[in-house]
Amino acid sequence: MQAVGRAFGHNFTLEYGDVGGISIDRHGTPLTDGVRELATSADAVLFGAVGGPKWDDPSAPTRPEDGLLALRAHLNVFANIRPVKVYPELTDSSVLKPHVLEGVDMVVVRELTGGLYYAQPKGRTQTPQGIVGVDTMRYSESEIERVLRVGFELARGRRGKLTSVDKANVLETSRLWRATATRLADEYPDVELEHALVDACAMQIVLRPASYDVIVAENTFGDILTDEAAILAASMGLLPSASLSGVPEAGARTPGFYEPIHGTAPDIAGQGIANPCGSILSAAMMLRYSLGLTEEAAAVDRAVQTVLEQGYRTADIATAGDAATGTTQMGDLVANAIG
Ligand code: IPM
Ligand code: MN
Repeated sequence: MQAVGRAFGHNFTLEYGDVGGISIDRHGTPLTDGVRELATSADAVLFGAVGGPKWDDPSAPTRPEDGLLALRAHLNVFANIRPVKVYPELTDSSVLKPHVLEGVDMVVVRELTGGLYYAQPKGRTQTPQGIVGVDTMRYSESEIERVLRVGFELARGRRGKLTSVDKANVLETSRLWRATATRLADEYPDVELEHALVDACAMQIVLRPASYDVIVAENTFGDILTDEAAILAASMGLLPSASLSGVPEAGARTPGFYEPIHGTAPDIAGQGIANPCGSILSAAMMLRYSLGLTEEAAAVDRAVQTVLEQGYRTADIATAGDAATGTTQMGDLVANAIG
């Protein structure tokens, strides 16, 4: 953000808040009211990542992830936009064959504030038969409709294809999801709607990924499918996301929540080898969709592209024989390329 400010003559006001594990340690809760208010009053929120073995105790009253989920719900950012871009220079870094990756350009719209993650009842109870854990899948038609509309609108501005993902052969929420998609399709005659069962879609994403344009999916399905889709891009560390309360519009100045799709990667903590690009590209999405700065956003995207073209690779995308670039150096390279 500072490199963008220097290059384009902006002064960003950055304020910081603790969320997740650090907040549990310092304040006894993964999200304080203060940070909640800070996030509400900001033009946009750039989120790091939460979670770690220290807070993994299944009997703990709260977890770092609760802070993230509370923040997403509080900001009502129901549409999580996860573009999956394949850099041609990275096809060798993917475990998939290069010809499978040719022409891959998709966006996954993940429903973010409902479904299995949030619906009540939820919890653990002691019953005469023993302990029971409960999660509920629940969606109202309006929750489904608003996120599907984001998918239709995005598809309309791209290649005109929308894949609606569900498990309609088993789940009632999915049958409502599918019926809603079919109903809305009448309003978008320029968009080709396809329904896909989530299990089959999981297979097709690695089999013929180039056939997808926009995918829209329930919260949990979208979570799982995007980790899988990250394999197309070669690494989770590269994928950004934007969470919004409506259709993303380049140049808009509407609040949004921006985070990489990856977690905290505790297995490599402290080694200085994490890939910063997912976070950097999330900041680019923030510039584009919340701060009205499309040129600046493009400059950040280009900077990442340039650094990859120059052959710099963090450990996650390095191929045998490459000397891996560390997190800080990678960040500095991108920042310099912006200038
Ligand atoms: C993601 C993450 C989160 C999620 C976790 C950290 C709660 O996996 O953003 O994809 O499941 O939404
Ligand atoms: Mn995830």
